Amino acid sequence: MNDRLRTALPVLSPRREPVLIPEAWYPIAPSTDLPARGRRATKPLGIMRLGRRWVLWRDEAGAVACMPAACPHRGADLAQGRVRQGEIECPYHGFRWSAGGECVALPCEGRGARVPAKLHVRERPIVREAHGLIWMWYGEREPTAQLPWFERSPVEGRRTATHTEVWEVSFTRTMEAMQDLHHFPFAHHGLDPWRGKAARLDPYECRVEGERIYQKAALALEREDGSTEPVVHFQLDCAFPSGIYLKFSPRVDASVALCPIDEQRTWVWACYRVETGLGAVIDKLSARLSMWFEFAFVQPDDRRMSASAEPQACTAADHALVRSDAAIAAWHKLRRAHLHAASASAQEHSPLTAGSSDIEQSKSSQSM
Ligand code: FES
Ligand SMILES: [Fe+2]
Repeated sequence: MNDRLRTALPVLSPRREPVLIPEAWYPIAPSTDLPARGRRATKPLGIMRLGRRWVLWRDEAGAVACMPAACPHRGADLAQGRVRQGEIECPYHGFRWSAGGECVALPCEGRGARVPAKLHVRERPIVREAHGLIWMWYGEREPTAQLPWFERSPVEGRRTATHTEVWEVSFTRTMEAMQDLHHFPFAHHGLDPWRGKAARLDPYECRVEGERIYQKAALALEREDGSTEPVVHFQLDCAFPSGIYLKFSPRVDASVALCPIDEQRTWVWACYRVETGLGAVIDKLSARLSMWFEFAFVQPDDRRMSASAEPQACTAADHALVRSDAAIAAWHKLRRAHLHAASASAQEHSPLTAGSSDIEQSKSSQSM
């Protein structure tokens, strides 16, 4: 079959893999979106992350509580309810749940009424609060102790500036964009002071240690004789799957943390730090200015490139990667390893593939 004919035919059996990567921590919201005190403390937070809508609130001790946002009674959005003494109250009929998922009040049935078991919420995702963010564990196994975060990454505070936005781009494509170091002269040509001449990524170093990918590189001018002159230096580290640390210069760095909203959209959080040596106020203003410039003039190009790329749910096999894409290749390798591990553990726990003793056990528990 010739290639022209092949490209004209519809793809009958597309090879697609899930966009959501299991067995990982994801940042789902800034801690400041869930204040512990003040008027907003009674307002729960409703968010769509990892393909589901969730409601978050704080219990009486200030710890983050989270459960699916659809009320177990008749599906109203719990995020439109309110927080009362650390419990979440549904806006429709006023049923209430503790942070542990126990249904504690059914106003229509009166005090002391028997609570049907179905009203207790079993599905309560594991959440953690650290580095100014709320994190959710997405997986079947025990969560890892370590978050995808670098200790040196800037956090929301007096001297830094933060920003959040939604990309209409799959998580996979967004993560590729975040780790790409050689697109600048083309995707951002309007901002390129070297007018496309500093296009060669040289030197380029990509190192993988466990689930961390470290890139060090420079964009260089290439002369006629083949010699190069590096003009822009980068350091970009990725804690799989989506914790990014970026160093632009000795005084300017940033952290980026991302979470799939669903298969097509990605939530992006970023924090900039600029150390001017002129005090916290000037640091903060400089960080805000850098952040504003980045998201007003730079990132829209990245977003546009990524949104138009096909397929959105891509794998490394969809690409023809080159040396300068080493980090993207490494990221996809880790992604595959997570998918394999999750599918192996699902098979292990499936009654169809479990060992005979497991099957015996499941039979005897069914007959009880
Ligand atoms: S729908 Fe929530 S209490 Fe009825
Ligand atoms: Fe970019």
